[in-house]
Amino acid sequence: MQNKIIDGKSISVEIRNEVKAQTEILKREKGITPGLAFIIAGDNPASKVYVRNKGKACEEAGFYSVTEHLSENVAEKELLSLIEKFNKDDKIHGILMQLPLPVHLDTRKIIESINFKKDVDGFHPVNAGNLSIGEKCFVPCTPLGIVEMLKREKIETSGKHSVVIGRSNIVGKPVAALLLRKDYNCTVTVSHSKTPDMKLISSQADILIAAIGKANYIKKDYIKEGCVIFDVGINRVEDSSAKSGYRITGDVDYEDCFEKCGMITPVPGGVGPMTIAMLLRNTLDSAKGVVYER
Ligand SMILES: NC(=O)c1ccc[n+]([C@@H]2O[C@H](COP(=O)([O-])OP(=O)(O)OC[C@H]3O[C@@H](n4cnc5c(N)ncnc54)[C@H](OP(=O)(O)O)[C@@H]3O)[C@@H](O)[C@H]2O)c1
Repeated sequence: MQNKIIDGKSISVEIRNEVKAQTEILKREKGITPGLAFIIAGDNPASKVYVRNKGKACEEAGFYSVTEHLSENVAEKELLSLIEKFNKDDKIHGILMQLPLPVHLDTRKIIESINFKKDVDGFHPVNAGNLSIGEKCFVPCTPLGIVEMLKREKIETSGKHSVVIGRSNIVGKPVAALLLRKDYNCTVTVSHSKTPDMKLISSQADILIAAIGKANYIKKDYIKEGCVIFDVGINRVEDSSAKSGYRITGDVDYEDCFEKCGMITPVPGGVGPMTIAMLLRNTLDSAKGVVYER
């Protein structure tokens, strides 16, 4: 019998071990070490933690990685020339520009300056376009983590109705595009803040993806009996019993939905850890040249 809780943490460990083993082979047989460059601009504390964790994951996987930390008021020209340096650097197979950027910088222009063949975050318009027309591309890591969990848990997707709540470019839209592909064959509904009667829509989902950014928003009357839930949300809620004064919770009211759903990802320990694992896998694929020819 399948476990009701989809344990993203242990699946991510499995993937990271696979990446590490394949990295050793790539180094031994081809003399290639996957290389990832991180760029961070400004002092956003969450961004600094994310980049530190991703750097540590690279080290554990046997990757080469480099982090460039620029000041909050970095000039656009300086950032663009750093990206160009990494675009040309043969040791670098992936470039990750940590978002959000300081407000004076044009996010779209910066992302577009990354060579799409090194865009392991999958945010470049070429990759977004290739994803929507079903071509090979780098897929954003969080959506990729969700479909990887579907595969590893052997959850049937063909002909299933998937409802995605949220239409961001990093989660909602790419996960919808992925599930629509012939690899998954879902019937997909995408909803957002202007969707009337959210409950009516979400309660038709066999597979529900919640990427809203609102703590405990989805209650049991929003879901169908036996559905599979992927909770992408990462929300801080006050908790006086916690040492930090807060705890992290998802977009889904886990306690309320647990009995009624078929399977569910917890927060933390579900979708979150998969994101870093898929970043490593995208970078390895880039180094191998299996997504785009190098
Ligand atoms: N686990 C991970 O690795 C990971 C990765 C990325 C993000 N996240 C988390 O996932 C959540 C979503 O992230 P995001 O970047 O996609 O956020 P976002 O850019 O803020 O998008 C949120 C989406 O939710 C929609 N929405 C808001 N209120 C709604 C409502 N009441 N009913 C239906 N839809 C509603 C918004 O609709 P409109 O478009 O109409 O505004 C928007 O499309 C956040 O908590 C974020 O921290 C987690």
